[in-house]
Amino acid sequence: MALNPPLPAWPKCRVWVVGASTGIGAATAKVLLAAGSRVAISARNAERLAEIAGEHANARAEPLDYTDSAQVTAAWQRIRNAWGGVDLILIVAGAHLEIRAWELTEQNAMALLETNLHGVIKTTAAVLPALLAQGNGAIGIVSSVAGYRGLPKALVYGASKAALINFTETLYLDLHARGLGIYLINPGFVKTPLTDRNAFRMPHLISAEQAANAIVAGLVAGAFEIDFPKAFTWQLKLLRILPYRWYFALVRRATGL
Ligand SMILES: NC(=O)c1ccc[n+]([C@@H]2O[C@H](COP(=O)([O-])OP(=O)(O)OC[C@H]3O[C@@H](n4cnc5c(N)ncnc54)[C@H](OP(=O)(O)O)[C@@H]3O)[C@@H](O)[C@H]2O)c1
Repeated sequence: MALNPPLPAWPKCRVWVVGASTGIGAATAKVLLAAGSRVAISARNAERLAEIAGEHANARAEPLDYTDSAQVTAAWQRIRNAWGGVDLILIVAGAHLEIRAWELTEQNAMALLETNLHGVIKTTAAVLPALLAQGNGAIGIVSSVAGYRGLPKALVYGASKAALINFTETLYLDLHARGLGIYLINPGFVKTPLTDRNAFRMPHLISAEQAANAIVAGLVAGAFEIDFPKAFTWQLKLLRILPYRWYFALVRRATGL
């Protein structure tokens, strides 16, 4: 049974994708544009956004840095003025930095938290009052299976994604009864500029287009958690419930770290 209220049919849907210049966000925006939705695309790279918008009549480029609340609020206002409301906000933006315990500094940790966690919370805080006032609409937040449990090389990245999972679960608990949809999107490995820097073999790696299709299918199904690819995520879900003694041993054996 669907956990979220149905979204309008795609040709009637007004969507804001934050983090849409490359990777999963750009691919998802393109799938929704092809399905006939109006899609506002945001990220810092204005040139890249203009290129995507130039290829789609129903796209609207709104360049911004989502860690800057003033920029988020101004873009949100412009989009709502233009469309009279928004049905779905997908917060996809994020960054990755491999940090092992001995590489931890206040600087690298705070920078990653600012991008992966604070940006999402600031954007959610900016859009929520209007969604609550209109009594409908949905927010989808991209976290990661790296947030399920601690993993080597993901010291701060994993912590930011674990926080997002908790944040999104709590949004659901608070907002479902108010008529809002809340989606938690947990990808496995997806080939994007973010993972192109990984030197290790990424199991069950999928394309950004496959990720976008999985996200859109999950939105249509009204799922709360949209995790993919299933062949990978079920294994991680199983690891999540193992006692620490077994979990640590298995992770060490699987990663060699
Ligand atoms: N690829 C994977 O395997 C994978 C797995 C699990 C989760 N994820 C998550 O999926 C999301 C998308 O990642 P991706 O793999 O598609 O990587 P990506 O291609 O690097 O995309 C990241 C997007 O976030 C935007 N962004 C970053 N900082 C921003 C800021 N301060 N303000 C506005 N936009 C910002 C980037 O645009 P600009 O640089 O133009 O601002 C870009 O559009 C991330 O949250 C990532 O953690 C990815």
